[in-house]
Amino acid sequence: MTIKNVMVIGAGQMGGGIAQVCAQAGYSVTLNDLSQDFLERGMTAIGKNLSRSVEKGRMSEEEKEACLARISRSTDIQDAAHADLIIEAAVENMTVKTEIFKKLDQAAPAHAILASNTSSLPITEIAAATKRPEKVIGMHFMNPVPVMKLVEIIRGLATADEVYQAVEEMTRRLNKAPVEVNDFPGFVSNRILMPMINEAVYTLFEGVATKEAIDDVMKMGMNHPMGPLELADFIGLDTCLYIMEILHEGFGDSKYRPCPLLRKYVKAGWLGKKTGRGFYEYN
Ligand code: CAA
Ligand code: NAD
Repeated sequence: MTIKNVMVIGAGQMGGGIAQVCAQAGYSVTLNDLSQDFLERGMTAIGKNLSRSVEKGRMSEEEKEACLARISRSTDIQDAAHADLIIEAAVENMTVKTEIFKKLDQAAPAHAILASNTSSLPITEIAAATKRPEKVIGMHFMNPVPVMKLVEIIRGLATADEVYQAVEEMTRRLNKAPVEVNDFPGFVSNRILMPMINEAVYTLFEGVATKEAIDDVMKMGMNHPMGPLELADFIGLDTCLYIMEILHEGFGDSKYRPCPLLRKYVKAGWLGKKTGRGFYEYN
């Protein structure tokens, strides 16, 4: 299973980062989103990241240009016809993801691997929307993708061993560390991280402390690089809420109930850094 051409679905904060690290590792990348505007936003972010690497002396201007030239833009899912591996990084919503996987299954060549960067949705259920469940796998990158080492690789019920091996090998080529986990709600990362974030929101909701105090306790007391509320803003409050809902539904345990304050912020459209306002304000 040789992977040369990679397609990334979704040019948001995760898809853009995934396209960037794949292009940096020498893969030919097709970045797909719903409109040229979304693609433009994603490519601008990639350009900025690469320029910072040039400024820091980690890459030459020529290498940056070559890297950007390896990424082509697409608004047509049929472009999957040229891909060996497709990594989906659209919104955390099962209906959206299964629609995308159905279309990818029809458009992509028979040998192509279909991976999802989902934070919490069952890989087995996404795979069931296709006629190639053995070629469907979870490839969960961490945010910000160019910086974070981990890729959590999730085996669905039917994922074939050679598909797992190919994705693990590619992850190493991206200079990332693969960790294998099984398909369970939230996998390992978000089963542990997201209840902590949700508890921080409850702590704010119940008036135990200010948002700054809650974040300071976790930063200075536990050596976390960001406090949980700052991290929630960074991830996106919509994504945090989706993940808590998946945990709540998947385990049927009230300890995973999303905090009403998290719901309220999402309903207000205060989704965190990406919309300029979440628990904190950003310009
Ligand atoms: N994109 C690309 N690079 C970025 C970046 C971004 N959004 N943000 C920071 N960086 C780079 C900076 O350029 C800098 O690189 P250089 O040193 O080479 O210049 C490096 O990261 C450190 O950045 P800063 O010095 O500006 O800031 P920092 O030391 O505070 O680090 C951070 C920033 C790496 C984001 C750090 O705050 C951190 O690790 N935060 C926690 C991140 C985390 O927990 N991620 C996981 C989220 S959960 C998830 O992803 C799974 C899910 O399903 C929700
Ligand atoms: P985002 O909102 O920044 O980006 C999502 C992008 O997908 C948008 O540009 C949107 O236009 C595009 N999109 C939506 N539907 C599409 C479709 N049908 N076809 C093509 N593009 C489509 O979201 P994000 O934070 O990048 O999250 C993307 C995925 O990655 C989610 O599944 C999320 O759970 C997961 N994830 C997020 C994080 C995080 O910290 N934000 C970390 C790991 C995994």
